[in-house]
Amino acid sequence: LDNGVSRTPPMGWNSWNHFWCGINESVVMSTADALVSTGLASLGYKYVNLDDCWAESETDENGKLRGKASTFPSGIKALADYVHARGLKLGIYADAGNRTCSNQMPGSLHHEYEDAKTFAEWGVDYIKYDNCYHDGTRNREVESSYYMEHFLQRNCIFLRGQEDPATWAGAYGHSWRTTGDINDTFASVTWIADLNNRWGRYAGPGRWNDPDMLEVGNGGMTMDEYRSHFSIWSLMKAPLLIGCDLRSVSNRTLRILGNKEVIEVNQDSLGVQGRKLRSKDGLEVWAGPLSDNRVVVVLWNRSELRALITAVWRDFGLPPNTPAIVRDLWKHKYVSMNKRDRLTASVAPHACKMYVLTPLQS
Ligand code: DGJ
Repeated sequence: LDNGVSRTPPMGWNSWNHFWCGINESVVMSTADALVSTGLASLGYKYVNLDDCWAESETDENGKLRGKASTFPSGIKALADYVHARGLKLGIYADAGNRTCSNQMPGSLHHEYEDAKTFAEWGVDYIKYDNCYHDGTRNREVESSYYMEHFLQRNCIFLRGQEDPATWAGAYGHSWRTTGDINDTFASVTWIADLNNRWGRYAGPGRWNDPDMLEVGNGGMTMDEYRSHFSIWSLMKAPLLIGCDLRSVSNRTLRILGNKEVIEVNQDSLGVQGRKLRSKDGLEVWAGPLSDNRVVVVLWNRSELRALITAVWRDFGLPPNTPAIVRDLWKHKYVSMNKRDRLTASVAPHACKMYVLTPLQS
């Protein structure tokens, strides 16, 4: 959506991947504190997003949504105030159908306008709009998201639809899911990366494909696998929504989520989604253009054996013999180049190498 919001992919935290329905206000408040104390907030992670299960099972006597008394006793407005006082933004979760996917709270069907108004009154900055228990009305969610957008003009909206949202959701929101739910396995990361890759041309400033939230730090993958997950999500200009428990985050997880050079790729002003250029036997070259004629390259080894992977300049439209400065974004070092038309690296199983190439005029 072209309204000045989300010119780069949104960054923050969401409760679902780690906590599922087990959220409460103390978890959310401590997470807001942790975003600040770990330094992640100053790297750009500013949204604190509630997912499913934040509300009472039924609306109040006036039909209004309200925070669940047993878990959010202070109410959502107080939570928004708490988050805002730390320089962060609050995101909320709603659903275009009768009930949300958990079936534990009401959806917004037939009272989209009222719910959007409630969220606006509370000071909510971002909406994730799910699509369970919808009534089958064609494009119902388009219409209802219009009401959401109307009330939250300055905010980021999330859409999920059954009709290839990449082809239409950019007119109504700032990002949309392209896949089903991620899980904390390498198989899920590769599968979802490939699905999301198909919609690359629909992405741009203010409209992003969303391959789902990050699993980094949740414990199911190796550090190499998490680095690959984070690298490819950044290259694909995915929203970077942390999905682990930040109250007890380890330093090695922080070194991944807090890699400034990788984040800069994701937040690059050009806003072009990088894509898969080549793949053979699980050895893959992904790349995309960045501002100032730079190029981001990921050499990704999905196979079970260490292997050499090579990207050649013509893969990204550079003439051979173009000298380039090459920066390794995980080693935080410049690479000394002995070739002027290719980049080769030995890559461990399930790991990747990530570079930014700055071509020099020859
Ligand atoms: C389905 C979505 O894809 C998930 O990310 C999460 O929001 C759940 N619904 C919550 O029920």
